[in-house]
Amino acid sequence: MFDTKILGTDEDSINYAAELLKRGEVVGIPTETVYGLGANAFDETAVRKIFSAKGRPADNPLIVHVSDTEQISELTLKVPPLALECAKRFWPGPLTMIMPKSNRIPTVTSGGLDTVGIRMPSHKTARAIINSCGFPIAAPSANLSGSPSPTTAQHVFDDMNGRIPAIVDGGMCGVGVESTVISFEGENGIRLLRPGFISAEDLKEITPNVLIDKGVLEKLGENVKVRSPGMKYKHYAPKADVTIIDGTLDDYRRYVKDHSDSDTLCMVFEESDCKEIDLPFICYGKTDEKQARELFDALRELDKRGAKKVFARCPNKNGVGLAVYNRLLRAAGFQVVKLR
Ligand code: TXA
Ligand code: MG
Repeated sequence: MFDTKILGTDEDSINYAAELLKRGEVVGIPTETVYGLGANAFDETAVRKIFSAKGRPADNPLIVHVSDTEQISELTLKVPPLALECAKRFWPGPLTMIMPKSNRIPTVTSGGLDTVGIRMPSHKTARAIINSCGFPIAAPSANLSGSPSPTTAQHVFDDMNGRIPAIVDGGMCGVGVESTVISFEGENGIRLLRPGFISAEDLKEITPNVLIDKGVLEKLGENVKVRSPGMKYKHYAPKADVTIIDGTLDDYRRYVKDHSDSDTLCMVFEESDCKEIDLPFICYGKTDEKQARELFDALRELDKRGAKKVFARCPNKNGVGLAVYNRLLRAAGFQVVKLR
């Protein structure tokens, strides 16, 4: 086995990363959301390497990353007018838009679909790498399939060492949850498929018709046709049995006292939440933004600590909080105790 190289963000490192990508290799790259596992979106052989490095099912499409809005006309058949408005308002940034794909995008990249998800990251290094390559970069989150998305180069190394030649270390990701994914319905509608830092409230500034897809908050039945393949796969699952306790702080404390045993670990916003509860705990942030940044690291920490039974405080369900709730819900296998 070989060791994966960790590169910096200086010009030489960026050029080296671009060289590897041009040669059809897969490179771990930082973005403002989470780290991505990048390859040339036009190169089928390179894109296949992403699927095998992650152990990703072939029918789960990849997001294509651009460094310039101009690039989308080559990648799509038709750009909905609303998409242009969203690009103007939210790009570069954590918003992925699903559009009909052109035949420039190989079906391997689109997971066999006739659509493609496109986003322009705001992370400077990500854009510098795309620019230096001269082609768009297909990149899923750089975790092993089923693990929490990586928010540091170390997380990527932990999952990908020996599987990819290099990772560009751009520090800790500022947003911490993956991009908001949307599709367009009719002239005037937006469907939210995956919540992220760009919230439903933000999207309503573009059109009042923002529909939150059922799959965001509910477990979809076996035979339901999903609009985004990622919804049907198990995600972010730590080894522990996680339960979300949806209630006030008092409700949480009472519930934990009544239901804990020696295997229980508390996942809370801040240390004082655990006052008078004599159990180990992990904090994952006081504000919605901080929770977004810290959630995936906290989920990885659960495994490192060998946690078996976890009671998690419930995030807000609006703004960025909806993104945190959506990810935690999947980590908990949709187990929620509703106390309010
Ligand atoms: O922030 C992000 O989006 C990160 C960084 C690296 O950009 N990428 C990321 O990719 O989270 P990934 O592959 O882990 O998640 C992409 C999600 C999946 O749930 C996938 O099913 C969905 O987007 N998706 C991609 N293309 C799609 C399409 N054409 N139609 C429907 N869903 C799509
Ligand atoms: Mg992912």
